[in-house]
Amino acid sequence: VNSEFGQLIGLYEDAAKLYHHVLMNTQVGEEALDYLHKRGLDDDTINTFDIGFAPAEGLLKPFFEERHVDYQTLRSSGLFIENQDGQLRDRFSNRVMFTIRNASGKVIAFSGRLLHKDPDAPKYLNSPETKIFHKSDTLFNFDLARREIRKADAVILFEGFMDVIAAYSAGVKNGIASMGTSLTTDQIGILQRVTNTLYVSYDGDDAGQNATHRALSLISGQSNMDLGVVQMPEGLDPDEYLRKYDAEHFRAVYEGAKETPVGFALRYLARGRNLDNQSDQLTYLNEVLKIVAGVHSPVEQDLYLNQLVDRFGVDKASLKEQLADIRQTQT
Ligand code: CTP
Ligand code: MN
Ligand code: MN
Ligand code: MN
Ligand code: MN
Repeated sequence: VNSEFGQLIGLYEDAAKLYHHVLMNTQVGEEALDYLHKRGLDDDTINTFDIGFAPAEGLLKPFFEERHVDYQTLRSSGLFIENQDGQLRDRFSNRVMFTIRNASGKVIAFSGRLLHKDPDAPKYLNSPETKIFHKSDTLFNFDLARREIRKADAVILFEGFMDVIAAYSAGVKNGIASMGTSLTTDQIGILQRVTNTLYVSYDGDDAGQNATHRALSLISGQSNMDLGVVQMPEGLDPDEYLRKYDAEHFRAVYEGAKETPVGFALRYLARGRNLDNQSDQLTYLNEVLKIVAGVHSPVEQDLYLNQLVDRFGVDKASLKEQLADIRQTQT
């Protein structure tokens, strides 16, 4: 219990309880609670995820000092910011606090979200790396999702914490998120021990599509997982989609609208192109055929070729001829 590890776990547990208490039971937390309710989170969900609020005035510092937690421990906890004189003050202030838990459900870090847009401050502020928090092997919500991932034999990778939480509250419980960065080899390894199927469900906006493209090539380069894409219509992120429609529509997207990585690439490469224009069409077809050439299953390949035939009215035989050419230069 007295190990540094155990001590830090204890501090984070206390901090999470305090933040949660401030959110749920105090006047200082009212605006934040209101904010979360307006974003569609009910108290059950807020409790499940131990969401809290860090008030503007310091909260943790007086609490831990009163309990005689020593300076070095506080300093190494990452919960404080140190000024030039070595004085500590609470790192998080005036933020909605999302708890980040390890695989055993222990709180090991926080991500604090601003209540109001502020051009001078990041929307989300994460805890720094500590003895108990290593970004590269932490997955948001993995502790709760693990059983569901096993049950569904698939994991859904979201872009934001709010997407994971929204999905969970709508009954899609096998979702996780990385820590604001691309999935690492460690994180992929952790997931692969539970399932071999991963769906990327990033935001439907341009940034999300670019990130999806990157994630697919990164994960396929580091593992042999079966990959798919679930993207919300209308450029929405999963959380926005759930709020605009409802849980039933939301679940339907996850039951139905799964794309293969190649299917996604076909759509992705079409972005920003005028495909009524013949020269754009040709460039597009060339790029797309290069990808289709890498598809091993003849049936899957045929699916994409038919799609291209339907869309561009080109002859399937010529597409196949070009595929053969590409194959020859690729090998
Ligand atoms: N992010 C961040 N800092 C920012 C913007 C984004 O760290 N200034 C990270 C967060 O982890 C965030 C993710 O990138 O969850 C996705 O960004 P975005 O789509 O903008 O955030 P949302 O998850 O949609 O957050 P919200 O719905 O609360 O606005
Ligand atoms: Mn609670
Ligand atoms: Mn986004
Ligand atoms: Mn988003
Ligand atoms: Mn969002």
